Order: sequence, then C-alpha cells, then structure tokens
Amino acid sequence: MTLTADTGIGALGDPSGPGPAQLPPIPDGAVMVTVTIQRFNPELDEAPHRESYRIPALPTDRILNLLHYIKWYIDGTLTFRRSCAHGICGSDAMRINGRNRLACKVLVKDVITDKKTEVTVEPIKGLPLEKDLLVDMEPFFEAYRKVQPFLITHSNEPSREWIQSPEDRARFDDTTKCILCAACTTSCPVYWSEDAYVGPAAIVNAHRFIFDSRDQGGQERLEILSDAEGVWRCRTTFNCTDACPRGIEVTKAIQEVKRALMFRRI
Ligand code: SF4
Ligand code: FES
Repeated sequence: MTLTADTGIGALGDPSGPGPAQLPPIPDGAVMVTVTIQRFNPELDEAPHRESYRIPALPTDRILNLLHYIKWYIDGTLTFRRSCAHGICGSDAMRINGRNRLACKVLVKDVITDKKTEVTVEPIKGLPLEKDLLVDMEPFFEAYRKVQPFLITHSNEPSREWIQSPEDRARFDDTTKCILCAACTTSCPVYWSEDAYVGPAAIVNAHRFIFDSRDQGGQERLEILSDAEGVWRCRTTFNCTDACPRGIEVTKAIQEVKRALMFRRI
C-alpha cells in the first residue's frame, strides 16, 4: 500500500489536524500506526489522560522517531526527555506497551504486527510526574548519590597507578555499563510502593565500587545498604533485570551485595 499525506494523519478525534502541505513526504514502505500517549499538563489537567495519534512509520523507525513526528508536526506541546537518541545517555526511559524501555532503542517492527498497529507510551512509574512523559528524576539521583558512587581511598596516595588484575576487573565489569536510565528502579514493585527503598540502580552503582579492588569504601557502602532502605527490601522479582537496556544482571548484582553483607566479606 502506498500511503499519501491525506491518510488521516493527526490526533484522533481532532478534525483540525495538519494539512498534507505541512507534513513531510511519506517514505515508501511506511505503514499507519496509532500511537496512544499518556498526556498530562499540570496547568490544565487534574489527572493524566490518553491521547491517540495516527501517523505513518517505517518498520525500522524507533519509537523516539514517532514521538518526534508527533511533536514536530501534530502537537508541539508533547513533552518528553531525550538526548543522544542512540541508547547511550539513558534519558528516554518510558513505558512502551507496558514495559520499561528506551524509546530510542525500540523499533516499530518490535512492537506492532499486521493485526495490531497500536503502540502505547506512558511515563515510567514511581517518580513524580511533571508533564506528559516527563518525570522528576531527583528522587532517583538522590538514592544514587546516597551510595557514594565514586572511588574512595583511605591509604596514602600511591606513587604510581593502582594495579588491577583482569580477574579483579571482571568482578564488577557488568555494573560499569549502567547509564542511569532508571528503567530498572521504576519497574520494581517495591520501589513503587515504598518511597524509602533506594532501588536497583543505586545498588548496581554501589556494586560497581564495592567490588572494585582499588576502592576502600566498600564497608561504608555496605553499611548504607544494610539499613531499612537498602538491599533487604529487594524481593527478587527480576523485573529490574528484564528492564535493563544494557543487559546488566541487576538481580545478580543485588544478590552479590546481599551476600557481601551477610558474610561481611567483599
Ligand atoms: S542498571 Fe540498567 S536499567 Fe538500571 S539504571 Fe542502569 S542501565 Fe538503566
Ligand atoms: S536518547 Fe539517549 S538513551 Fe535514548
């Protein structure tokens, strides 16, 4: 099917959509997709609601492309966060068809089929909603800062670099990959229900330093994570591991921190 710009592009239920002249040419191979987005304007709305847009998309487009299309051609007030568009910065975590994903890493063909051409996009859960798909990340970063995510040393400065064996480096290799997107933390039911829990991402970033042979602040971090807001709140639901766009074994990292706490040995 060849699509033309008069294929009903625009917000569903709004007859005053953009005219064909205002729209970019539709590429060969595009299909019509309905994108349903949770919208919320704190200045106008009492509660979030959903709005749907019918737009053309290529199977290889990313969900972020669809959001850009809606913002640039249909509704410039649509608000979301993104930066790199290449899965590096971690700023566009959102719920896509109910799962925490990075909008720049999910392709249209991953979420639609011949029978189902609708995609639902919502903000991540458990953080204060600011507008549309934008949440306040401050509680997330507060928990991150709490675990002291930096190298701590108490001994005299060495006269040359700290030597680390490949085996020692391998102990925390997985957790160095974190891009702080919050997909793990905001997929955790414990985090949704208990404000105080530091959440998986903070523990992943504590793990990265606790198991670094050059670091000397491991016991301090374990102390922080042993309190009521720490690792013992984890119920091992594995949502975090499923959600991580970097493939980090989040639950395994949490278990390793729990074990280090139990045996007081890093
Ligand atoms: S562990 Fe994975 S899901 Fe969690 S913040 Fe880091 S990159 Fe994102
Ligand atoms: S925009 Fe940077 S990770 Fe998606």
